[in-house]
Amino acid sequence: MERLIGPIHIKAKKGDVAERVIVAGDPARVEQVSKMLENPRVVNTNRGFIIYTGAYKGVPVSVAVHGVGHPSSMLVVEELAMLGAKVVIRFGTCGAMVKGLKIGDIVIPTAAAYYPGGAFYQYLKEAVCTATAPHFDVLKTLVEETQKAGVNYVLGPVVSSDAFYAEDPEFVKKWTSRGIVAVEMECAGLFMLGAMRNLKTGALLMVSDSLVEELGFASAEELREYVNRASKIVLEALI
Ligand code: HPA
Repeated sequence: MERLIGPIHIKAKKGDVAERVIVAGDPARVEQVSKMLENPRVVNTNRGFIIYTGAYKGVPVSVAVHGVGHPSSMLVVEELAMLGAKVVIRFGTCGAMVKGLKIGDIVIPTAAAYYPGGAFYQYLKEAVCTATAPHFDVLKTLVEETQKAGVNYVLGPVVSSDAFYAEDPEFVKKWTSRGIVAVEMECAGLFMLGAMRNLKTGALLMVSDSLVEELGFASAEELREYVNRASKIVLEALI
């Protein structure tokens, strides 16, 4: 049975959302990026999934809130696809799992492992695993634009966890031994939907903390200047 019943949560019409979309968990970051657009207008506020549509260098671009974790972010990406999105780049934060990265440095995921089983299983036990990857065109442009901007970055696979506070004591050892460079909460779902829904996806993550070095946890306020720097990279990659 075809299950194309949406969009339910995003109250926008076809044409309100651009083909090129930046998604982020934090509404404040979405608002900050929207200020870099020409003629931004709000096309959705329902459920707090605020979406702005405007243009960057004349190219139509939307910036959307996807909330935290897979249930929220995947629902938003599904509905953005229903509304005509073709390229979706996540502009998020991550916890570094390799040394040498500072707050505001960049991780560009080349793949994302889903921490198996979702939040429920993460608190209790593990289930099966899969692998997901960004679209190569998006990945390549994100790397090129990051290099042009001269920002310190790391390229590698990340792990997408559903439970921010449930990580087991072996978490870092387990995932770094598999070559994982950072932890965040949405890329695996985004990349999987890219393959399933014919979207070009990618992600650029700013380091907000580290699990392998003492960096503290950067607040949204502390990240603001890094957001400005990195959002230019994402916008240039998107258009
Ligand atoms: N864990 C999960 N997600 C994150 C983290 C983290 O340490 N930092 C930023 N996003």
